[in-house]
Amino acid sequence: MTPFILVIFGATGDLAQNKLIPALFSLFKQKQLPEQFYIIGFARRDLSNQQFAELFTPHVIARNEAIPTSLVSARHNEIAAPPIESGTRKDVKAWGEFAKNLYYQQGTFEEETEYKHLISQLENIDAKFGTSITRIFYLATPPHNYLPILTNLHQAKLSSHRSSASEDIVRVAIEKPFGKDVETAKMLDLKLCEIFDEKQIFRVDHYLGKETVQNLLVFRFANSIFDPVWNKEFIDHVQITFAEKKGIAGRGKFFDGVGMLRDVAQNHLMQLLAAVVMEMPKSFTKEDVRDARAKAIQAIQCVDPNEVSKYVVRGQYQGYTEEKDVAADSPTETYIATKFFVETPRFSGVPFYMRAGKAMKENSVTISLVFKQTCHLLFKEIGCPEEGNVLTIRIQPNEGLFFRIITKTPGTKLALQTADMHFSYHEAFGTHGTEAYERLLLDIMAGDQMLFNRSDELASSWEFITTILEGWKKLNPPVYTYEQGENGPKEADSLIEQDGRKWI
Ligand code: BG6
Repeated sequence: MTPFILVIFGATGDLAQNKLIPALFSLFKQKQLPEQFYIIGFARRDLSNQQFAELFTPHVIARNEAIPTSLVSARHNEIAAPPIESGTRKDVKAWGEFAKNLYYQQGTFEEETEYKHLISQLENIDAKFGTSITRIFYLATPPHNYLPILTNLHQAKLSSHRSSASEDIVRVAIEKPFGKDVETAKMLDLKLCEIFDEKQIFRVDHYLGKETVQNLLVFRFANSIFDPVWNKEFIDHVQITFAEKKGIAGRGKFFDGVGMLRDVAQNHLMQLLAAVVMEMPKSFTKEDVRDARAKAIQAIQCVDPNEVSKYVVRGQYQGYTEEKDVAADSPTETYIATKFFVETPRFSGVPFYMRAGKAMKENSVTISLVFKQTCHLLFKEIGCPEEGNVLTIRIQPNEGLFFRIITKTPGTKLALQTADMHFSYHEAFGTHGTEAYERLLLDIMAGDQMLFNRSDELASSWEFITTILEGWKKLNPPVYTYEQGENGPKEADSLIEQDGRKWI
């Protein structure tokens, strides 16, 4: 693996603390990073390299035992053995090694001169190597900073840099939400494409990096028994559920201007949907896989804004407006449920029900394919279970697949009931799989874009979301409140029950 420099804009924020640095540290421990690498945090706060490294210790060192400050201060020296249990001790030692690769650059994203300091840092590193090494700019900031950062990268001529083999070795990774609606997403993309070549751009949706999402492709297309029934002849409807126990977890500043529709439906849920709907890619190569994904998302039928209340329910958990950094009269949704159709020959006419909520009863991200009931053909008199075959793909937690079958209840009399066949990652492989950000960061380093969004995918998903936003703006439908720790507003139940179906 070749050396790299990763510049994280917004390096003191949530994403860097909770995902990026822990993922990099984990890769480091697994020896998946090159011997030489440099991580430069770029953010507003005034911090030394050492203080920057200290920000992450509670997030990366196992469980509650924070690394003692004395160990952090000594990170460029030999680290004394800490008086803690051995798993953690190993982590502390590894962290000391890893932290030697962390650097900090204070700067405001809008200020052109700050980028000059960055240039000298980058040039110093190249000088050490005697050659240019890969540069990755990771935009992990709130989205309103994207334009100033991109503009300044461009003006400082940081958007392109050639290796000795004359290859462009600059990559840019950009996080969701990518825009606020279809227009702003297109504008941002235009800017991005003005500055970078498509092959340099990594539009991140970490759901694409999840083991269970990648497995859907394998599950569907490597097992011949599923494809023949994966269509409107056999499938009654599809449900996608994204439930999180936590509320907005102190992210009011970000979330209140965004809402659940933009925060997870526009991106993560669209990717889950694409994995269910897409046709077999022509080949397992980057562009063919991205083509198949893009076609699936393009086929989603937009909801008529005038009918938004019929197809979309929005909700807000009680107490949301008392959260920090949330407006007292905020109408922002923390829950959405929607019904829609996807016009492909395979799925035409099959309803999709999708819901996503914060402050729910449990953590659960699942996709369920509910098959048509045929039990009554032979067993009507005996009594059929309410539901027939349901294939549930558990994205997280308890990653795996569950297949509900109808079976004879053991005994001398004939009676029917349902039972679950299941495959669990943990049982089968002793692991839940690679953490999404680990996989994605490795792919960025390797320049592999298969698990990253292309602009056409984003444009289509934004079109779908934007018509809902337009409907809300025009008709201002109610934002139903729901209790924390419950399953969302009862109106979301009506959305599916009026069709004679139930949430799984
Ligand atoms: C993020 C959203 O993209 O995904 C968060 O901004 C959400 O609101 C998170 O909590 C969920 O990710 P995961 O991997 O925990 O399911």
